[in-house]
Amino acid sequence: ILHRAIAIDGPAASGKSTLSRLLSQRLNLIMVNSGAMYRAVTWKVLQRGIDPNDREAVVQALREMELECGVADLVSTIKVDGIDPGDELRSESVNSHVSAVSAVPEVRECLVSLQRDYLKLGDVVMEGRDIGSVVFPETPFKIYMDADPSVREARREVVGEVDSVAARDRADSGRATAPLKIAEGACVLDTSGHTIESGVEAAIEILRGQG
Ligand code: C5P
Repeated sequence: ILHRAIAIDGPAASGKSTLSRLLSQRLNLIMVNSGAMYRAVTWKVLQRGIDPNDREAVVQALREMELECGVADLVSTIKVDGIDPGDELRSESVNSHVSAVSAVPEVRECLVSLQRDYLKLGDVVMEGRDIGSVVFPETPFKIYMDADPSVREARREVVGEVDSVAARDRADSGRATAPLKIAEGACVLDTSGHTIESGVEAAIEILRGQG
């Protein structure tokens, strides 16, 4: 496990996806978007008309769904019961309920195991909230990305997502199981004043120092 995973954690819209994609291309690593996995479970729960705040019902639904994780062109893919939810993963309803579903310990246990399985397919750069703290605590390569709240809200608006980033971050940071936090050994990268290119350069500098 040790040198095969780069963990990128941080709040919503801190630039994790952009950085992970560019690192994946530059270092030839599989990019795994762990948030998409939590979103996929949430999507299915909502599709079945299950109350996302009803933990027992969510766990039951989880047991009944078939999750298939894969890779296409070095990017993680996910299907639920044979269907790729596509853009629906980023819908308003998924945005507003994903924090409740991802706070359920059984959901996390199941998805963390699928996330670790990616190492069977190759080296990874994985982004999320608990990658450095829970999924790959042994990796030396850990970056915690951050940016000013106003910068993060503005980034969300650019991509057309108007959910309250702040509410999701509060829920993700305050939950009992695997809350968003700076993992032991992680280096904080604040991207507020960075361009995409300078952010990538800064990240590579950090990773060099950690290796
Ligand atoms: O990264 P993204 O914003 O797509 O993640 C959506 C949600 O999934 C987060 O707000 C969080 O509730 C959950 N998540 C998580 N642990 C991860 C990745 C995402 O709890 N490793």
